[in-house]
Amino acid sequence: MARQMFGFIALLCLYAVTQGLPSRHIQTKHHEPNKDQPQFKEKYFTQILDHFNFNSMGNGTYDQRYLITDQYWKRGYGPIFFYTGNEGDIWEFALNSGFITELAADQKALVIFAEHRYYGKSLPFGQDSFSIPEVGLLTVEQALADFAVMITALKPQLGASECPVIVFGGSYGGMLSVYMRLRYPNIVAGALAASAPILSTAGMGDSRQFFQDVTHDFESYAPECRDAVRGAFQKLQDLSEVEDYSRIQAAFSLCKPPSSQKDIHQLNGLLRNAFTLMAMLDYPYSTHFMGNMPANPVKVGCDIMLSGADLLQALRDTAGIVYNSTGILKCFDLYSLYVECADPTGCGLGFNSLAWDYQACTEIELCFESNNVTDMFPPMPFTEAHREQYCSKRWGVIPRPGWLKTQFWGSALSSASNIIFSNGDLDPWANGGVRKSLSSSLVAINISEGAHHLDLRSSNDADPLSVITARKTEADTISQWVKMERRRSK
Ligand SMILES: *[C@@H]1O[C@H](CO)[C@@H](O)[C@H](O)[C@H]1NC(C)=O
Ligand SMILES: *[C@@H]1O[C@H](CO)[C@@H](O)[C@H](O)[C@H]1NC(C)=O
Ligand SMILES: *[C@@H]1O[C@H](CO)[C@@H](O)[C@H](O)[C@H]1NC(C)=O
Ligand SMILES: *[C@@H]1O[C@H](CO)[C@@H](O)[C@H](O)[C@H]1NC(C)=O
Repeated sequence: MARQMFGFIALLCLYAVTQGLPSRHIQTKHHEPNKDQPQFKEKYFTQILDHFNFNSMGNGTYDQRYLITDQYWKRGYGPIFFYTGNEGDIWEFALNSGFITELAADQKALVIFAEHRYYGKSLPFGQDSFSIPEVGLLTVEQALADFAVMITALKPQLGASECPVIVFGGSYGGMLSVYMRLRYPNIVAGALAASAPILSTAGMGDSRQFFQDVTHDFESYAPECRDAVRGAFQKLQDLSEVEDYSRIQAAFSLCKPPSSQKDIHQLNGLLRNAFTLMAMLDYPYSTHFMGNMPANPVKVGCDIMLSGADLLQALRDTAGIVYNSTGILKCFDLYSLYVECADPTGCGLGFNSLAWDYQACTEIELCFESNNVTDMFPPMPFTEAHREQYCSKRWGVIPRPGWLKTQFWGSALSSASNIIFSNGDLDPWANGGVRKSLSSSLVAINISEGAHHLDLRSSNDADPLSVITARKTEADTISQWVKMERRRSK
């Protein structure tokens, strides 16, 4: 789920980080003006550092970044569409969630994308944000309070006091949208939670589900594809058992020969992560979100796996779709292209990955395993015990399984209202979310040919009918919520 930057950009990021520069300095590519793109203004909000303790930070504040555009807004009347930013640079989400601005144009809304604390430029303690104890103010509750305080303060400033607020989010951002509606129904009239795995991340799932569903995507393209992937990992396993490290280096174009089981584990993690990303980002057109992906990456990957080449080289080239999208990677550097963390689906690289690792070590539970039985990957267990061991060493914290479920209702959501849970059937996160409508105002939408929050993306000629239909339902439902809220507040 975590944001990732790949290939050349990844190396640059890493370079920037090791040089003590935030990776954001090289993400300029996304900011090129384009007349089709919404005209966001970048602003900062003076935000309370610690919403829940009046002594620890006193009245201390930090600068929280947000993007805003009123180009579609019926001033003082139209609703506010507020994106609850998740684990990354807020521009990345703003520029990959075109549905929200298309809908804003339609419903004459003011649009705000708020950055999550500890990500992008919203670092409460600058370069020291990831020290202990400074990192301790990174919690879901603080992030939600940030959004609530920001909305409350901006409304009168913008002359929007009467305007209903609808929150939007994808993935962890979708979880935050759900939580906003549960926690602050006084502020938020409804939530569109796209691909929000609110159940699995609260420990209410099957630890095998995620990689099983990744596998399912490749297997439903071609069962032979799954077999080829499994066979390639088996070959790698055979070579590592006889410690033929030079063959492994040659086959995978590794910069340095592996020399231990730890290196092999790292290689397996890096390779598995490529499949995770291809499954999550299996969009019908090429994208530049979380790295560069060709159109239909699962198909592209399987076509390489089945090209008849040597299985190990096929596996390398398939991973290259993710890590070598620029085509300029000379060799795979095991420890810089992929960093193992408390999220077995990947934390990405750079500062944002530190923040996500901390969240995965505290409130967000991501104990997913692969086992080569229910999935095609080598056995890589990641249990609550592994997590605890890693997290206490890395961050000096002991995770609290069950807290998210206690705090945000688990699956006992029936007394909530006005939430859409949309999920794409291709998305390995989908089955960690709410898949069945719980009431007439808690609506689940399945997008049969959709990957990770495809519905939040701009309309595209290659869109399957299922996402067009889903967006239509979402648009109608949101417009109803806005009307309801106007009636209620009269
Ligand atoms: C916090 O409050 C104290 C006492 O009123 C004041 O002197 C100080 O400037 C305030 N700090 C901030 C960051 O607002
Ligand atoms: C995966 O399971 C298959 C049997 O389905 C077995 O032949 C193979 O050795 C296993 N591979 C690994 C890497 O454990
Ligand atoms: C990266 O892609 C280029 C172009 O396809 C290829 O020549 C190069 O060998 C690839 N690098 C690796 C490490 O596979
Ligand atoms: C969505 O798909 C899931 C899994 O296939 C199914 O259990 C569920 O009933 C479907 N939900 C809707 C709203 O169609």
